[in-house]
Order: sequence, then structure tokens, then C-alpha cells
Amino acid sequence: MSEWKEVADQADLPVGSALSVEIGRDKIGLFNVEGTIYAIGDECTHADASLCKGLVEGTTVYCPWHGAAFDLKTGEKRSNPAPFGVPSYKVKIDAGKIFVESKR
Ligand code: FES
Repeated sequence: MSEWKEVADQADLPVGSALSVEIGRDKIGLFNVEGTIYAIGDECTHADASLCKGLVEGTTVYCPWHGAAFDLKTGEKRSNPAPFGVPSYKVKIDAGKIFVESKR
């Protein structure tokens, strides 16, 4: 079963920024890329670095520790040393609040 969880105010995530939030034990990174908000798992699959602290180019984020790349749209791994991708989450905005779809 899935449900929408409010995770942040839209004002807390200006264009070009990232924000780490939690739903239960899931760490989720929110990224505002030119006004579109993406949500992916915020723990790199290589050694758990926060992807929110990484460099974003277009819709790719580079892990701040060893440079693995992930697709912000899908969570797919784009380069090593990450062994696999991270989860991606649906996002919606309602009345200035950011909601993420939780599958728990
Ligand atoms: S922790 Fe992300 S590439 Fe190593």
C-alpha cells in the first residue's frame, strides 16, 4: 500500500538546492532542478554517503565521496563504484507543501 507523506515546505527547496528528509527509516533526497522536484534514496549504495551533498549536473547527481553517478529521474546508477541504483519516489506539490509517495 502506498500513501503520500508531507516531507517539506516548497520554500525550503529553492531551485538548485537539495534537501534530505526521512520517512520512517528511509532517507530521501529531494532535488530542485530548474523547478522540477525529484526524490531518490539519499544513501549511496557504495558506502552510504548522502547524495544531497553531491554535485548535480542536469538530472544527474554525483556522490560526494567517490563520484558514483545516479539519475535523479529514476534512481538508476550511471557510473561506478556504486554497485546498483537507489529507489526513486513520486513527488507532488500541494498548497506549497512537498509530498512524496511512500510504499510502506
Ligand atoms: S559512497 Fe558514494 S561512491 Fe562511494
